[in-house]
Amino acid sequence: MRFFIDTANIEEIREAASWGILDGVTTNPTLCAKEGCEFRSSIKEIADIVDGPISAEAISMERDGIVEEAREIASIAPNVVVKIPITEEGLAATKKLSSEGIKVNMTLVFSVNQAILAAKVGAAFVSPFLGRLDDIGHDSMAILYDMVVVYQNYGFDTKIIAASIRHPLHVTKAAEAGADIATVPFKILKQMVAHPLTDKGIDRFLQDWDKIKNL
Ligand code: E4P
Repeated sequence: MRFFIDTANIEEIREAASWGILDGVTTNPTLCAKEGCEFRSSIKEIADIVDGPISAEAISMERDGIVEEAREIASIAPNVVVKIPITEEGLAATKKLSSEGIKVNMTLVFSVNQAILAAKVGAAFVSPFLGRLDDIGHDSMAILYDMVVVYQNYGFDTKIIAASIRHPLHVTKAAEAGADIATVPFKILKQMVAHPLTDKGIDRFLQDWDKIKNL
């Protein structure tokens, strides 16, 4: 399973990258606004830190505008992927962009049918938003399972990014379902590392070492 970090915070990205577990980054307009970042220079900085796919979102809503904006975003660095919300215009733009070799992460995906359409137009990635589905009482994991099965049925190359991750169990369940990637907020990456029994075990080993270190 590959791990992306879901943030536009440079320090979080540097820290997670230093652990050796980071395969990419996803951002969105909300995450960029939270950091108050200048879009182009921030995406360039992130792309220089992480040698993997860096998703940056286009905000145009009609196909020609999306294509033009996506070309500009993709020119920031070779590892930049353009995030495009799934709409009729977004599908048309993605079809054109994928034929030009520009990688698209089809975002705001909430159903298997949307994921099938994203694969049909050649999106490199598709991002089902698990947490937002759970928020409205849907079973996000059942939808993710079905998505994985359908993609396997047809041998689609599009990679599934489990997104809108709200807690460590989302990551475990997404791995069980067979998601290719999870994009995880920094706080949840830290929660994944930690376990109270690990802390307790370290304390115990250190105390016992103190007893024998001068023997
Ligand atoms: C990922 O690509 C999305 O930007 C992100 O996971 C959305 O998460 P949220 O639902 O917590 O905003």
